[in-house]
Amino acid sequence: MASLGLSVVRIGEFAWSRLEPARGGYQLDWLARAVDTLAENGLKVVLGTPTATPPKWLVDEMPGMLPVGSNGQVRGFGSRRHYCFSHLGYRAECERIVTQLARRFGEHPAVTAWQIDNEYGCHDTALSWSNAARDGFRDWLAQKYQSTEALNRAWGNVFWSMEYRSFDEIELPASAVTEVNPAHMMDFRRYSARQVADFNRLQADILRSHSPGRDIIHNFMGRTLSFDHFALGRDIDVASWDSYPLGFLEDRSDASDERRKKYLRAGDPDFQAFHHDLYRAVGNGRWWVMEQQPGPVNWAQHNPAPRDGMIRLWTWEAIAHGAEAVSYFRWRQAPFAQEQMHSGLLMPDGGKAPGFAEADRVAGEIAALGELPQTGTADVAIVFDYPSAWAWEIQPHGREFDYFRLVFDFYRGLRKLGLSVDFVSAEKPDIGGYRLVLVPGLFAWNDELLAALESHAGIVVTGPRSGSKTLDFRIPDALPPSLPTNILDLRVLRVESLRDGCPVAVPGQGAFKFWFEHAVTGALAKASAVCENGMPAIVRQKDFVYLCGWPDDQVIDSMLRSFAGELDLEICPMSGGVRMRERGDLTFLFNYGDVTAGIGEIAKQADGGGCELLLGDRRLEPSGISIIRRRKRTPPG
Ligand code: GAL
Repeated sequence: MASLGLSVVRIGEFAWSRLEPARGGYQLDWLARAVDTLAENGLKVVLGTPTATPPKWLVDEMPGMLPVGSNGQVRGFGSRRHYCFSHLGYRAECERIVTQLARRFGEHPAVTAWQIDNEYGCHDTALSWSNAARDGFRDWLAQKYQSTEALNRAWGNVFWSMEYRSFDEIELPASAVTEVNPAHMMDFRRYSARQVADFNRLQADILRSHSPGRDIIHNFMGRTLSFDHFALGRDIDVASWDSYPLGFLEDRSDASDERRKKYLRAGDPDFQAFHHDLYRAVGNGRWWVMEQQPGPVNWAQHNPAPRDGMIRLWTWEAIAHGAEAVSYFRWRQAPFAQEQMHSGLLMPDGGKAPGFAEADRVAGEIAALGELPQTGTADVAIVFDYPSAWAWEIQPHGREFDYFRLVFDFYRGLRKLGLSVDFVSAEKPDIGGYRLVLVPGLFAWNDELLAALESHAGIVVTGPRSGSKTLDFRIPDALPPSLPTNILDLRVLRVESLRDGCPVAVPGQGAFKFWFEHAVTGALAKASAVCENGMPAIVRQKDFVYLCGWPDDQVIDSMLRSFAGELDLEICPMSGGVRMRERGDLTFLFNYGDVTAGIGEIAKQADGGGCELLLGDRRLEPSGISIIRRRKRTPPG
């Protein structure tokens, strides 16, 4: 590991059955030997807390800790993440094992960070429909509403005779005959997200008190929106995520078949970057890739091998977006159990797997490049909000309406113009430094966000569906988007969801897909684009813009180009699978595509214009990377 150029090793994240083979019989010496061995070789250690894999004896002692599916079935022992966040007995057990580990290893000089648990929410585990969750939910509701009258009013329980007389009558929102009350479900989502944050904080507090100066990290997942990552981000020092580009393209993408085939061995050109930027925001600027795909994985529908060069590219791309570290999962392929088909940097026999050479190369390149500039602030911000993802999952109103998908469409549009993007939480909308701010699909306004948008100097783009509910999951009295007329004088009178392939045209620009709103403007707002049916498409009032539908790629592109022009944002349209990211005065270029792309003007400047080509060259081969230090952007040829 050390001679490969690795500097940090994560271990122990699933080791409970070896750390405590029977209650109270702690066996930590083997782990101490491992940490010492790594330390002797100059490697730093991230220690995992093993709470994602409670051992069998514990589960047998406390079967109520197991999570329950929405069908009422217990999700049993035999894999991982078999615990319910609401179970207080299990939390006490976590407190116990984490305290043991923190006491023993907290001040070990090689321990540089802790990873708490592993991938909260993965395998659909943020929600549990257990008795522990039901009891906790009732308590949480009683605290929130104080009286059932208030709850009945907020939820609208007079509808279908759903009124409650006591909090003990309230069940979890599953197993009803048909659709449950969306307000009931929304509160259950909020409650469940809160349990994840509380569960995490418990461990973070213990680690902080016994292990001063070490970073506290969690490894989040791709396209996992089932709890509020921003809330959790407040209790950790570094956000990290597990990046499996090929697995995600197979299993977690909305890409067409054609696109899936095209990027089969490269991954979607925007999916990794999206998460890099999102988790940079979750970590308040500090983030890692904790697990980087090093070859074929085992868990997707199909598990192709990465194209040569992609492991290097993915690693560099994370660095371009400001990652402090990129760690590969895993070191050596395990020849046994569930992940025996998952590759590592080493093969099961200890020989070097194909990914090894790429990791070797990139480690050398990173070392050679030396210190990199700060990431800085991007030109564009997207306001991101986890509760909005829950809301539209609860009430999509049209099969395709998915929050991630909507936000990702805008993100891709920005990237295709060569713009770097930051995400900002809707709860802490620090948007002052951005000239262009996008707020797509936000479920409900909050006062802080409204104040920030109102005083913003720059263009704000909202809609579709932004502000279409109150926090109680009702249609606002003033009708959506429910904004004061001095911000936007517009009312949405009705909405329709559109079948795939049945768009509403926006002449000269493109079309709305999946979603269309019938809106009327008041005296202060004006439609700057109109649909072929004569209804407003894009409405503008000073620098505040509302989109009356889900824009297709053409509408996004033409709209972003025109706002960029107005704001004097330099764009740099990308060809095919080429993407770029700025980091300080460096521009990183990546080729996800399968044809060589010229980086024409940029390279010319690099040769003659006082700009320096630090890595790669003027032709970007498939999987190629170039790093340029330059002052001005110009489109690649
Ligand atoms: C991650 C997980 C690892 C391993 C890996 C396989 O989701 O954190 O433990 O299972 O996937 O790709």
